[in-house]
Amino acid sequence: MFPRMNACTRRDFLRVAGAAAAGLTLAPRTSRAADARIDVLVSEPIGPVTADLYGHFIEHLGGVVYDGVWVGERSRVPNTGGIRQALVDHMRRLPPAAIRWPGGCFADSYDWRDGVGPLAARPRRTNFWINDMATLPDSPGKYDPNAFGTNEFMRFCRLARGSPYLAANLRSLPARDFYQWVEYCNAPAGSTSLAELRERGGDRDPFRVRFWGVGNESWGCGGNFSPEDYAIEYRRFTAWVPRYDAPLSFVGSGPNAGDLAWTRRFLTKLTEKGEGALNGLWGWALHHYSWNTSRGATTDWTAGKGDAVQFSIDEWYELLSEADRMDGLISGHWGVMGELDRRRRVKLVVDEWGAWYRPGTAVDPTHLFGQQSTMRDALLTALTLDTFHRHAEKVAMANVAQLVNCLHSLFLAHEDQFVATPTFHVFEQYAAHVGGQSVRTVFSAPRIGYQRVNTAGSFWGLGGSATIKDRVLTLTVVNPHVSEPREAEIAVRGAVPGGNAKASTIAATDIHAHNTFAEPRAVQPRDASVSAPRDGVIIHRFPPASVTRLTFDLA
Ligand code: AHR
Repeated sequence: MFPRMNACTRRDFLRVAGAAAAGLTLAPRTSRAADARIDVLVSEPIGPVTADLYGHFIEHLGGVVYDGVWVGERSRVPNTGGIRQALVDHMRRLPPAAIRWPGGCFADSYDWRDGVGPLAARPRRTNFWINDMATLPDSPGKYDPNAFGTNEFMRFCRLARGSPYLAANLRSLPARDFYQWVEYCNAPAGSTSLAELRERGGDRDPFRVRFWGVGNESWGCGGNFSPEDYAIEYRRFTAWVPRYDAPLSFVGSGPNAGDLAWTRRFLTKLTEKGEGALNGLWGWALHHYSWNTSRGATTDWTAGKGDAVQFSIDEWYELLSEADRMDGLISGHWGVMGELDRRRRVKLVVDEWGAWYRPGTAVDPTHLFGQQSTMRDALLTALTLDTFHRHAEKVAMANVAQLVNCLHSLFLAHEDQFVATPTFHVFEQYAAHVGGQSVRTVFSAPRIGYQRVNTAGSFWGLGGSATIKDRVLTLTVVNPHVSEPREAEIAVRGAVPGGNAKASTIAATDIHAHNTFAEPRAVQPRDASVSAPRDGVIIHRFPPASVTRLTFDLA
């Protein structure tokens, strides 16, 4: 473990380091001593925090769509038009964000025509994930009945107040199928045969789908392309797609985590005929999963994964460090994008993120990649959303993977059972940021030491983000320390924190705590008290292993 500084030295360090980092002259110290400091720089705006940073992702994978979202109209599980009611009710508590469908890797095997028209005539198809499900019991996740298709997905979006983000098949269908799917969705009522087919499916009015992913992970399951070959396909797929009266925002299949060369080589090829090609690239997708908790022992995709629920303290910090790589990934790809997109037309779309554990904690054996979600995942969620806020000028959309019964899910569901995970509670708690302006923050706190296999690891001691909306400051803070509370001085620069201070905290005495069908409220937010500001500074004690939202009126 790292040697710990004594309290006095640590406080002095914090005052100097924090001030230097923020370029500040510090206000006189308050009478109470704190071991951390948070400066909120109200006059340094970053960008707007939109609901789309709180987006979702549902793929035809294991128990996500069938059992998770779709239970069928004749099910004894409460539903609206076949869509699980409890899911809809919970989604309506969240920001109305983009929902990505039908994949993921599944998207590049999907023919949208299989999922439209009369239900009885829809074909059953082998699912993309069949090989990964070989030892699992048969389920609609293996042989897709196509009961949930485009009209059903749009119904789900309407019920959940989400906006559709469709991922098109670039690997195994021609560009014609892509623009005809656009026609099916967006052509005016009665205008074409596909518009009439949509109407026979129950939707006369166009869906006006704006967000279209052009393939998925085209470096891997989406075609195993080189970036240059994918750029050529991308130009072909996006050329002269009918607009109707909906703006079309195309998202390119971006890198696997830190692969900067994929970004540079794609953009170089895309723009070889001129920078105008960038006008057809609204978003550049970035995927990052936190999966390796081996602490440096291996980089093997299977061996590196740990258990979702049984983990050591060192694995707790290692997983959070993995998640914290998001910050550098965003900055790294953004930097490369700026080399070729000098006018900054293209934004990042982090359309897959979350923790990915080894199998063993799914609520049903048919739920491929189903996993539990503990306090550790609450902190991962919070620090990732904070990262998006701090990069709000760069990231236009983000979609957690995946909504239900899968990796990093907000919900677990099987038949008539349903539970919200700690990740859902963080999403709901953080929703107060949406619609606000992200402003710069400086966090200063002693780092936390932990053990890796051959090296010493260390993780930051306090982190978060702040937004301002209608003269209300929302500050969210993660204390990652498994056992120590952290007391912080919170100084708001450029405004005076006034009254109406409120706090909501998600914490549990056990870092492995999680919600189950039998015990659905083991992890949930609780209101906490906040002391009144003194000399413009608020002192707040953040419990160990916690996520906190503070709100104050600004005078
Ligand atoms: O989310 C599961 C899978 O992870 C997605 O299908 C794919 O895009 C990624 O590799």
